[in-house]
Amino acid sequence: LSHFVNVENLSTAEVLALIERAEYFKNGGATPKLSQPVYATNIFLENSSRTRTSFEMAERKLGLTVIPFDSEHSSTKKGETLYDTSLTMAALGVDLEVIRHPQNEYYQELIHPDNEHHLQIGVINGGDGSGQHPSQCMLDMMTIHEHFGHFKDLKVAIVGDISNSRVAKSDMELLTRLGAQVYFSGPSYWYDSEFNQYGEYQELDQLVNQVDVMMLLRVQHERHEGDPNEQKFDAKKYHEDYGINQRRYADLKEQAIIMHPGPINRGVELADELVEAPKSMFYRQMQNGVFMRMAMLEAVMRGRKLGGLE
Ligand code: CP
Repeated sequence: LSHFVNVENLSTAEVLALIERAEYFKNGGATPKLSQPVYATNIFLENSSRTRTSFEMAERKLGLTVIPFDSEHSSTKKGETLYDTSLTMAALGVDLEVIRHPQNEYYQELIHPDNEHHLQIGVINGGDGSGQHPSQCMLDMMTIHEHFGHFKDLKVAIVGDISNSRVAKSDMELLTRLGAQVYFSGPSYWYDSEFNQYGEYQELDQLVNQVDVMMLLRVQHERHEGDPNEQKFDAKKYHEDYGINQRRYADLKEQAIIMHPGPINRGVELADELVEAPKSMFYRQMQNGVFMRMAMLEAVMRGRKLGGLE
């Protein structure tokens, strides 16, 4: 891979190979020896705690040299475009840039073949608007695979603010392709009929004792500007209707797991006291993220022959 911007272009074999490689790193497997330095920077133009820190941890574990990028004090604040920012990073000798950006598919311009001779830099997508979140998707797949050992016929419910969720969009596409059965639930105003191609909508209480994976999505208030439902939003009511409380937790299948990309609105999507409950994979997902991001970065490094890797 020369870039890692979405999961649509990955074959099933590539997905499974990345999971295997991430599991290898998690089990203490050696990282590849780099014969030349590789420079990476993390350009986060939207807030992040997990993804940014996790990528930096992955970069350091792989032996990359991490070049700090302080978005708040960068020239993006003077209006410099992402293209010109990337051109600058490439000119300075940065090999890889992990980018989070509010615009969907911001990366198209950066990876366009016409720009390749100027932009000698690998792009890894740390989340684009409400488009895709490939590294979250891949760590979610790793977490499901680690627990169940397969994807075929697993029932996965994706619940909540689906239309604003880049996690949901990446996950529903890949889960379906891997053979899982996807279901949706949550407020109808954050559901779009275009999701019907991936699975069917059902009421949450119909799904609770049926599914293997209960994937909760954060209510993304920052994406609700101009949304009339934001004015009427009532956290307590949301929790009653679409949240996992003690009653619903008790109804889950014995082997079922709860996932959440974070950050969690405690007491909204998931009861406060259940965030660290045995079925909650919240912490495991974050742990796995470091190893999956190592596998993703390594794949791009090999694709670009960085550090002497092939
Ligand atoms: N899951 C996720 O993207 O979290 P952050 O926004 O903290 O990176």
